[in-house]
Amino acid sequence: MSSESDKHALPPLITAAARALRDSRRLVVLTGAGISKESGIPTFRDAMDGLWARYDPHQLATPEAFERNPKLVWDWYEYRREMVRQAGPNPGHRAIVDLETYLPHVVVVTQNTDGIHQLCGSSDVITLHGSMLSNRCSRNCQGDPTLIDVDDLVWDRDSGPPRCPHCGAWVRPAVVWFGESLPPAALERAFDLSNQADVMLVVGTSGVVQPAANLPFLARRQGAVIIEVNPSRTPITAIADWHLAGPSGQILPQVIAALAEISHA
Ligand code: APR
Repeated sequence: MSSESDKHALPPLITAAARALRDSRRLVVLTGAGISKESGIPTFRDAMDGLWARYDPHQLATPEAFERNPKLVWDWYEYRREMVRQAGPNPGHRAIVDLETYLPHVVVVTQNTDGIHQLCGSSDVITLHGSMLSNRCSRNCQGDPTLIDVDDLVWDRDSGPPRCPHCGAWVRPAVVWFGESLPPAALERAFDLSNQADVMLVVGTSGVVQPAANLPFLARRQGAVIIEVNPSRTPITAIADWHLAGPSGQILPQVIAALAEISHA
């Protein structure tokens, strides 16, 4: 498709990626924390300012951590929720919505829990890791998931999370932590769509967290064109037909502009 040297040159590469998108009938957009970085939300693994460079995931993002210290984990999520509430979509999120103007079938599969794709207007979003803006009973006492609207609850916020009104267990963020299973229906749909995709656009993920990291490899094996947008190289770069190296808030609007140009030509 492209030689190793021209795989990295802009903008012919933008046009080539736009052509592949224009011809797509079953596009899957796989996103990670990088798409929200230009909204002011830190990624997890960027060496300098990633969350996991400053905080220990074992203390904050496992069921054991929550059992050990529910207040610490709850407060950390409250801090991040506040950050997300103040953030809005950036041009990268908007460009992904714009893809729906040009293509018949666009599904976003995201590892992000910030809800920004949905807020921005993407019409079909699969959330592999849940939503940090929702909460559930930590025992899922009324079924999986037992969502709890904490706005309806009164509790002493200095003491940590509220208690489930049904069973008294702690309420926790409705996200998937390390060591937990992904929601089966979301995962199954993501795998099915990746199997059938003709193009996969992979944006802002380090490609190291399973099972999401496997989706581009699955799509590739089925013959899909892989377009990666990321300022850095990742394990996915090796199988990408096009690696558009740069921030998604800058690259994706250029891809949309190229798509508009060739679609009207
Ligand atoms: N535009 C696009 N990509 C960017 C940008 C940007 N402006 N800035 C950084 N990136 C890239 C980084 O180069 C990196 O490859 O975004 C990626 C972010 O990687 P991670 O922080 O590992 O985020 P992600 O891949 O989504 O992590 C997966 O890990 O801890 C868990 O549950 C958490 O869902 C998360 C999962």
